[in-house]
Amino acid sequence: MKRKFAVLTSGGDAPGMNAAIRSIVRVACSMGHEVWGVHRGYQGLLAGDFRPMGPRDVSQILEKGGTVLRTARSQDFRTEVGLLMATAALERQGVDTLFAIGGDGTLRGCEELGKHWGGQILALPGTIDNDLWGTDFTIGFDTAVNTALGAIEKIRDTADSHERFFLVEVMGRHAGFIALEVAITCGAEDFLVPEVPFDLKTLCDKLHEGKALGKTGSMLVVAEGAYPGGVHALALEMAKLNGDEFRICVLGHVQRGGSPTAADRLLATRLGAYAVEAALAGERGKMIGESAGRPVLVDLVQTFTQKKLLDPWTIRMAPCLSLAGAP
Ligand code: F6P
Repeated sequence: MKRKFAVLTSGGDAPGMNAAIRSIVRVACSMGHEVWGVHRGYQGLLAGDFRPMGPRDVSQILEKGGTVLRTARSQDFRTEVGLLMATAALERQGVDTLFAIGGDGTLRGCEELGKHWGGQILALPGTIDNDLWGTDFTIGFDTAVNTALGAIEKIRDTADSHERFFLVEVMGRHAGFIALEVAITCGAEDFLVPEVPFDLKTLCDKLHEGKALGKTGSMLVVAEGAYPGGVHALALEMAKLNGDEFRICVLGHVQRGGSPTAADRLLATRLGAYAVEAALAGERGKMIGESAGRPVLVDLVQTFTQKKLLDPWTIRMAPCLSLAGAP
């Protein structure tokens, strides 16, 4: 039986979303099914903004950052009226399965929509934050880490020349996955993440110790949500503690753009293909993730009610890698 699928991207965009869209469209069409793209995420869904997508429509998007379907953080969709409008639009269009690609807000949206619409809903984890429980990695995380790393390597040149302390803020309001991986891979002095408590005085002392041991420039990687008021407030507080001057760099949305890495293209492509298979097998209300290289199906609610933890061993070892060692 010919199936009618729809696909949307929602919330913060993530490099690799296009690879996932392409995979869904190509795999579904190769099996004789029909795919509709929904523009501007849930906002477009409730407005009924569907456009047909064939294999040719997804040519040369594999390597593109952002999302060709566009995205939005829809407030209307959070209301009962919005959910009913989205349900009516899906029914009018005759869609039987909706694939939603996004982060925790998107997956919460899937769960709410499932209470109104009787069709199959399947989600793909797409967020640079990597904070969805049940999948080892989310689409976009690897690219964001590599983008931040590339930027920090440039900052390091000037930090070393001037023998300066730098505070570099990376994205992650509630999760420190990006900060932790970036800190380790750029050889940062230390890192601050929302999940791990820290003492500022000890941190300042550690930076000084590194300098005394001959370190030229020092880098502290700070997750967006690690300190109230962000990295600017943190710099003021640290300056008060020991009079040091800090240079600040907020990497911000740079981390969300750019061509996806090979790892993100592969992950997104596999997840897209698994998603089509799962839809044909009658699965519903699940996120399609990957664990230890194998596909996993996770109940939507679990993905955002369970907290994905940073690896405790890595957190313990990371500070020991700096010149001054663990405090
Ligand atoms: O996509 C997740 C995320 O990148 C967070 O790390 C960040 O806090 C947030 O999005 C920023 O969202 P916006 O682009 O809506 O400001």
